[in-house]
Amino acid sequence: MKIGDQIFSVPVMMAPMAGVTNPEFRWLVASYGASIVVSEMISVEGLVRKDRRTWHYLRSFRKVEGVSLKNISAVEFFQLFGSRPDSFAEAAKILQGEGINHIDINAGCPVPKVVRQGAGSALLKNPDRLVRIVDTVRNSAPDAVVTVKLRLGWDNASINILKVASDLAELDIAAIIVHARTAKQMYSGKACWEWVKKLKALVKIPIIGNGDIFSPNDVVARMKETGCDGVMIGRGALGNPWFFQALAAYFDPASWKMPEDNWEDLVSVVEAFTRLLERAGYNIGFIRKNMMWFSRGCPRSALFRGEIIKRNTVDDMLRCFRRWIELTVLQSGVSFLDAKGLRGVRNGGQGCQNGGFL
Ligand SMILES: Cc1cc2nc3c(=O)[nH]c(=O)nc-3n(C[C@H](O)[C@H](O)[C@H](O)COP(=O)(O)O)c2cc1C
Repeated sequence: MKIGDQIFSVPVMMAPMAGVTNPEFRWLVASYGASIVVSEMISVEGLVRKDRRTWHYLRSFRKVEGVSLKNISAVEFFQLFGSRPDSFAEAAKILQGEGINHIDINAGCPVPKVVRQGAGSALLKNPDRLVRIVDTVRNSAPDAVVTVKLRLGWDNASINILKVASDLAELDIAAIIVHARTAKQMYSGKACWEWVKKLKALVKIPIIGNGDIFSPNDVVARMKETGCDGVMIGRGALGNPWFFQALAAYFDPASWKMPEDNWEDLVSVVEAFTRLLERAGYNIGFIRKNMMWFSRGCPRSALFRGEIIKRNTVDDMLRCFRRWIELTVLQSGVSFLDAKGLRGVRNGGQGCQNGGFL
């Protein structure tokens, strides 16, 4: 996967996710092999107004206190949303002033609060404006590597990804990322990767596909079926940074090893990451939510979730986690790699060489 001047041996990005992909989370997945990480979406209006909370989103994962950055080569994009080209121009200059050279433009968010402003996926209904925005960002931050994240269109009756993406591809952007659903679909139905294939056949710039990737086999299968240059993973990576490690080991075995098939790393990651979030000042509800994600796929995770909902300190929640691991998970005989879906059980390796991922 080539984005800008850089070639990535592991063609896998972590998706931007508001309320999830804070710098601590980005550091975690970057340290497990995600090649590219993206910030939560950042309001251009907030940046221009010099709103303190908005500026806080410009914190890099490289500035997270007390973590090792050794061997992390991931590139970090910051994602902007808004609707006014002038504000995008100013925001792009602000990012360059802050030393940020990787900018993603959000033209896919379907959340009403964003769409009402004419931002996010509302831009798919107004492609001329989107073109103006992207052009403006290119001109205001000439050194920046710029990508655009789109959905297929506003609704089924107005799918316009091919036209919009072809127009954007003329603007010297580094890649187009497509979440293969319409805005109206939100997260319902299935992502339709047929469009990613059509898009890849049509435009010359790199295409990154996104939507419903939940196992390493999904990655390999979607890339083979569509010819896309890379994939972006969102929900499938929650509580599962090993997803990236397994993919890194597959695509770049000289540099990465498959995760070990035991529960030790889960325990140490949950402890360390939870303490990191605590030190950074996140509230207890957010810390609990992250712990719940880590329990996904594990034996009797509902039992664990039912218990930590009753705990209100980080110490108590971690005690509860350790007890659940010792008394339930380790006794179950279930394999860690199976629990976390790292053997690529879905799709059974359809379309992959050697019949599967592992
Ligand atoms: C909680 C949540 C927050 C999200 N926030 C953003 C965001 O800030 N910017 C964006 O472009 N997409 C956002 N998305 C969409 C994801 O980046 C991704 O396109 C989508 O989840 C589909 O990928 P997946 O099936 O791998 O999860 C968000 C999705 C979720 C579930």
